[in-house]
Parts: sequence; structure tokens; C-alpha cells
Amino acid sequence: MGKDVIIACDFDSKEAVFGFLDKFTEEKPFVKIGMELYYAEGPAIVREIKARGHRIFLDLKLHDIPNTVRKSMAVLSRLDVDMCNLHAAGTAAMMQAALEGLTREDGTRPMLIAVTQLTSTDQERMQNELLINAPIDRVVMHYAENAARAGLDGVVCSPLEAEKVHSACGKDFVTVTPGIRFADGDVGDQVRVTTPARAKEIGSDYIVVGRPITAAPDPVAAYRRCVSEFID
Ligand code: C5P
Repeated sequence: MGKDVIIACDFDSKEAVFGFLDKFTEEKPFVKIGMELYYAEGPAIVREIKARGHRIFLDLKLHDIPNTVRKSMAVLSRLDVDMCNLHAAGTAAMMQAALEGLTREDGTRPMLIAVTQLTSTDQERMQNELLINAPIDRVVMHYAENAARAGLDGVVCSPLEAEKVHSACGKDFVTVTPGIRFADGDVGDQVRVTTPARAKEIGSDYIVVGRPITAAPDPVAAYRRCVSEFID
């Protein structure tokens, strides 16, 4: 398992994403394709980006009955993505079905990562709307442990939680961490942010970086700065 920087390609069209990726003439960054781009352009965009030599984290956050998730994951696996995800709230049965669906005939499969509680859900909403009464930190860790027990490879979490996740679920259980900003950069709408260098110290395995790279005046330089802070 390698430490890497994943660029969140939050674009709404093929033209916009290729305009961005064309700037990378020397390296082939690992990219995250989310719902916006996938729903705009369909599976063809995944095949095209893959054909250009990028590794892909397909961030579609599946959450449905186990049978539907199993069959949908089989389709995503055939797209040859490297990482995909689901909501741990779908239960262990759904997570195990997802793993079955993802596993190809030769036994290989993309990495499967769980979303625990979305960072947009706070304690109050979780209690009032979802009727979950445990403290949110406990819920996040419990979902991570469920995902580990179901055989998943890791979770999406804050870099600030990476250490705790590793101690509860094992050091090989992968932490994929958004909320990354340069020390001298704009925070935007993220609340708790961490620099790439700090994420490395705390033990994140993959950092997901969007606007600090995509909105930078020189995205390639910003990507290289992330790599040098986080990996080198
Ligand atoms: O532009 P920025 O670096 O904030 O992008 C972060 C990416 O990570 C976005 O694609 C966002 O949807 C995603 N993400 C996040 N926080 C989470 C889960 C996913 O920022 N808890």
C-alpha cells in the first residue's frame, strides 16, 4: 500500500477535466472522480481517464440493499477503477456483498473504502434526525471497526482521526483523508484542515486534495508541493 496524493477532480464536464489533466505532462496523478463528473459524463469518462494512465478513486458512495450493491460493484470493478467506496451505514451485509461484487474472476479487486458519518452531519442532526445517540466520534470509530471486520480496506476520515483509526483497526487499514490545505492557502468551506506535511506526520495513507490544486494558478506546481510535503 503506497502513500499517495489523490486529486479531487470536481469538474462537471469532460472538457473541464481534460483541460485540467492536460497540464500534467510529466506525472500521472491518482485522481478522484465524484458524482458530479460521473453523472455528467457516465462510465466513458472513467475509461478515458484510465486509458490516459491515471489511477482512479471512483467516489460514488454506494448505499442500497446488499444484492443491488453487489451487482453495481461488479459493474464498477469492470471499469478497472483502483478504489471505490460505500456508506458503512449500509451494514456489514452490504459491505460484504460489495466486496463479493468487486472481486474479479482472477481474484483481484479495487480497494474498497467506507464513508463513516459525513462531515456535514453533526452531533445535533445525527441525534435529532437519525436518532443515533452515541457521541459522533464514537459512531465514526464504530463504523470504521465494522468496515474493518467486514473486510474493507479502509475509511475516508479526517487526517486528525487517522491515528485513532489505525490504532483501532490496524496499521494496514487505510485512511483516505480530505480537508487538506497548504499552510499559506485558502481554507474555503472546509472547517478542520490539515497541511500535507502534518497529514504525513499523523499517518494518513492517502490525502485527497481538490481546490488547493485545481484552483491554483499553477496546478502542477501545487500538486508537486503536495507530493513533496506528503511523500518525499
Ligand atoms: O477542494 P477540496 O480539497 O476541499 O476537496 C475535497 C474533496 O474531498 C471533495 O471532493 C469533497 O467532496 C471530498 N470530501 C471532503 N470531506 C469529506 C468527504 C469527502 O471534503 N468528509
